[in-house]
Amino acid sequence: MLETKDLTIRFGGHVAVNSVSCAFAPGTLTAIVGPNGAGKTTYFNLISGQLKASAGTVSLDGQSLSNLSPSARTHAGLGRAFQLTNLFPNLTVLENVRLAVQATRTGAHRRGMNLWSIWSDHTALTVRADELLEQVKLKEKEYSTVASLPHGDQRKLEVALLMALEPKVFMFDEPTAGMNAAEVPVILDLIRSLKADPSKTILLVEHKMDVVRELADRIIVLHNGQLVADGEPAEVIASPIVQEAYLGMAKEAAA
Ligand SMILES: Nc1ncnc2c1ncn2[C@@H]1O[C@H](COP(=O)(O)OP(=O)(O)OP(=O)(O)O)[C@@H](O)[C@H]1O
Ligand SMILES: [Mg+2]
Repeated sequence: MLETKDLTIRFGGHVAVNSVSCAFAPGTLTAIVGPNGAGKTTYFNLISGQLKASAGTVSLDGQSLSNLSPSARTHAGLGRAFQLTNLFPNLTVLENVRLAVQATRTGAHRRGMNLWSIWSDHTALTVRADELLEQVKLKEKEYSTVASLPHGDQRKLEVALLMALEPKVFMFDEPTAGMNAAEVPVILDLIRSLKADPSKTILLVEHKMDVVRELADRIIVLHNGQLVADGEPAEVIASPIVQEAYLGMAKEAAA
């Protein structure tokens, strides 16, 4: 169980995330919605440790993560999509995924430093990396360098890397943003398949309400940094606060 208690961050006088207390259970997909600037990405950054909270705590399965670095939180089971800028842009797609797989299988290479074990580990890593690339439909790009990938393929690679880590908690922040219509279903299918695994906890920030309606078991709404609604999708979507927030957004977009 991932849990935040009174999680808060202030930027100067502005409270971007304001005392958010919420628990996310394995086997559930929670959509986090709310207008632009509501604090959704900031909430993710506080959970993953990219930002340090002004107050409040984050824990996973009873273990406090509050004082851990982002990489220690990843090690504890939190999966946040990689920033591709942190990768090796001049290595190939396959090499990058293989490194991510290797990172989760520490110890295998210590079985013995003979050529046979190095070769067999390398083969196993390549097999797993290939599977992941098949799943995100990037197999035909496996020998392209990351730097050469178009935007949609980079987003797919981010998801493959996240899956390579086999985290307990998957955090997706607008995973299909900037993708073309043909690429979106690949990502949504993957999220659907992750959802079928009852040990995984999924958090999804998503603006597209049709996607949210289909995938979410639960919706929470952030507004001005505060948690203002939490419940069944149909009920939350129909609530005045969501109608107002999204109608407000539609007005802004039209302006
Ligand atoms: N590092 C920062 N320094 C100062 N202000 C910040 C910082 N990060 C976020 N903010 C502010 O915090 C508020 C919440 O931003 P956040 O990016 O979390 O919103 P969001 O809900 O993800 O919006 P969107 O739907 O547009 O992605 C905004 O007012 C933003 O300007
Ligand atoms: Mg955001």
